[in-house]
Amino acid sequence: FAQRLFDGKTFLITAGPTKEKVDPVRYFTNRSSGKMGYALAEQAALMGAEVILVSGTDSLPAPNGVKVVHVESAADMFDAVMTHANEADVIVKSAAVADYRPKQVHASKMKKQSGDLVIELERTKDILFELGKKKANQFLVGFAAETDNMEEYAKGKLVKKNADMIVANNVAAEGAGFAGDTNIVTIFHKDHSSVQLPLLSKQETARKILHEISEKLGGDHHL
Ligand code: PMT
Repeated sequence: FAQRLFDGKTFLITAGPTKEKVDPVRYFTNRSSGKMGYALAEQAALMGAEVILVSGTDSLPAPNGVKVVHVESAADMFDAVMTHANEADVIVKSAAVADYRPKQVHASKMKKQSGDLVIELERTKDILFELGKKKANQFLVGFAAETDNMEEYAKGKLVKKNADMIVANNVAAEGAGFAGDTNIVTIFHKDHSSVQLPLLSKQETARKILHEISEKLGGDHHL
């Protein structure tokens, strides 16, 4: 049985990819399956938390006792997260959110034309950054998916996004990151400590991340 470390606490967790429409039949997305975020939601619920899961995928079953809110685009995810953010003691942003979306969404299917096609992209809002700006008594966890300079970028994100913890996965490593059932992560804390985890299933990785959160909540971070 899981220890009920989070009785009385509410978690807001995001999972999966976002989809950015080009026209009614096409979109830009990424390779996130949602497995990491769903594992976090499942394990947090087993540890006694009330869990709201904002999900960009509908291909995984809802974990037991978890309230799932389905979204499509980065803008939808922004709205859903902001709607529930005030209820949350802990927010974990494991979704792979698009940084750019097509500037213009065509109302009808785009027709083939001769020559190349250029699609102009514009920035989406950074949800984690906005959460960091307005955070009061919350514990905020971001993820970092990097292929190079993982530590430097992860530490940069901790500061820039005012997060309490960043979970970094080197998505270039075998067995880590997108789509599979395993991950390899390093956890960076605001107090400059870090914990490197070995190759583990995403469920086990989730359990370890949640234990790190629990330790910090019981220590220097009082809710
Ligand atoms: O879903 P799986 O297939 O199991 O794969 C898991 C995963 C690799 C997707 C997951 O472990 C992971 O790393 N998620 C974050 C991926 C990502 O988008 O990283 P990033 O370095 O681009 O973004 C950094 C952080 O900012 C993330 O917490 C992200 O949710 C957040 N972000 C990014 C852009 C944006 N517009 N808003 C955000 O909140």
